[in-house]
Amino acid sequence: MKKKILITGGAGFIGSHLVRLMVTKYPDYQFFNLDALTYAGNLENLKDIEKFPNYHFVKANILDAALLKVLFHKYSITDVIHLAAESHVDRSIISPLDFVYTNVIGTVNLLNTAKDFWKGDLSYENAQDGTWDKRRDHLFYHVSTDEVYGSLGKNGLFKETTPYDPNSPYSASKASSDHFVRAYRETYHLPIIVSNCSNNYGPNHFPEKLIPLFIDNIINEKELPVYGDGLYTRDWLYVIDHARAIDLIFHEGKIGDTYNIGGFNEWTNIDLVKLLCLQMDKKLGRAKGESEGLIKYVKDRPGHDRRYAIDATKLEKELGWTPSVTFEQGLEATIDWFLKNKSWLDNISNNSYQSYFERNFRNVGEI
Ligand code: NAD
Ligand code: DAU
Repeated sequence: MKKKILITGGAGFIGSHLVRLMVTKYPDYQFFNLDALTYAGNLENLKDIEKFPNYHFVKANILDAALLKVLFHKYSITDVIHLAAESHVDRSIISPLDFVYTNVIGTVNLLNTAKDFWKGDLSYENAQDGTWDKRRDHLFYHVSTDEVYGSLGKNGLFKETTPYDPNSPYSASKASSDHFVRAYRETYHLPIIVSNCSNNYGPNHFPEKLIPLFIDNIINEKELPVYGDGLYTRDWLYVIDHARAIDLIFHEGKIGDTYNIGGFNEWTNIDLVKLLCLQMDKKLGRAKGESEGLIKYVKDRPGHDRRYAIDATKLEKELGWTPSVTFEQGLEATIDWFLKNKSWLDNISNNSYQSYFERNFRNVGEI
């Protein structure tokens, strides 16, 4: 079947890599990239593929239920891969409601639209004998985060069975959206898959997040604000490996299941920042240790989760996925990309995001 796939949030960081991967890999499918182009959406991320015959951009907001209905009918959407979201934890601490609107209500709007549009196939009988799932005519794939599991102590990993325990308004909104997606399977037999991924990094990453913000600041010799004691731990995955995982799970994942995605790659923030400083010194021809001098410990993020770490064994064993690059390779490719695309960073820094944080707070711990 020739699929007509609606990808939401395709102009953002992860979405743009997923759209590029799928548009170039599947010329027989049609792709509709639906994005509201918030501060985080950027069509420059997709310049190289915007003229591909199987790629279509639709500027729309997932809060607009009436428009979603029209679009599903107009383009006969067969599948959804849902990434559109408010994604930054610090912003969620400042304006939690924005996260409820987009991440919760927006997701429920999309679920309703898909359920109603695919209704003819969603019969009770089809659901009972599994016809629905076997045919794979439709899928609602929800892209989520490991933050829904809360915070780990020194040991252990997040598994698909780890109970949800979100701590920030962002993770609470994503947890809520995950629950709605599962509820639509139980209640309406909607064919769904959810994946929960660890921290991504790579090209197109918006410079409010740790790695791109610090790359930008190192280039401009600005302070590097490390929250708290810097011993918070994150598990980093190259964004293209996340996109590869979504493609694989979309095609081969078991309907109704959840998959954790991660590369077994834990770093404390301070160790990561020091590695970044070293690599940047080399690239910029600065003396070894120069950029480390920019590190400044600042007041902590409220409710800061201590440690995230993903157990991706299920994805590796059942679907044969493994990351394609090491962290050192991925980080070097990321730094090279940002140095080569300084205008991408400058365009963002000169527009409205600019300094939402700089204007209003020293950092989120100051609010
Ligand atoms: P991003 O902030 O870079 O991009 C989000 C995109 O969604 C933007 O293009 C934005 O314009 C669009 N958008 C926001 N609100 C919208 C709305 N109401 N209607 C339509 N479009 C809207 O985010 P990202 O980092 O690429 O994350 C994408 C998804 O992956 C999110 O669902 C996020 O929760 C999840 N995720 C992110 C990470 C990560 O490390 N970045 C890790 C795991 C999961
Ligand atoms: O785990 C997946 C999640 O990773 C995604 O779901 C989120 O969308 C994504 O933003 C990311 O969330 P984090 O809060 O982990 O990412 P962030 O880059 O904001 O912060 C990474 C770590 O660095 C975190 O411990 C906070 C710290 N930090 C961050 C910033 C922006 C600092 O010390 N200083 C900073 O200035």
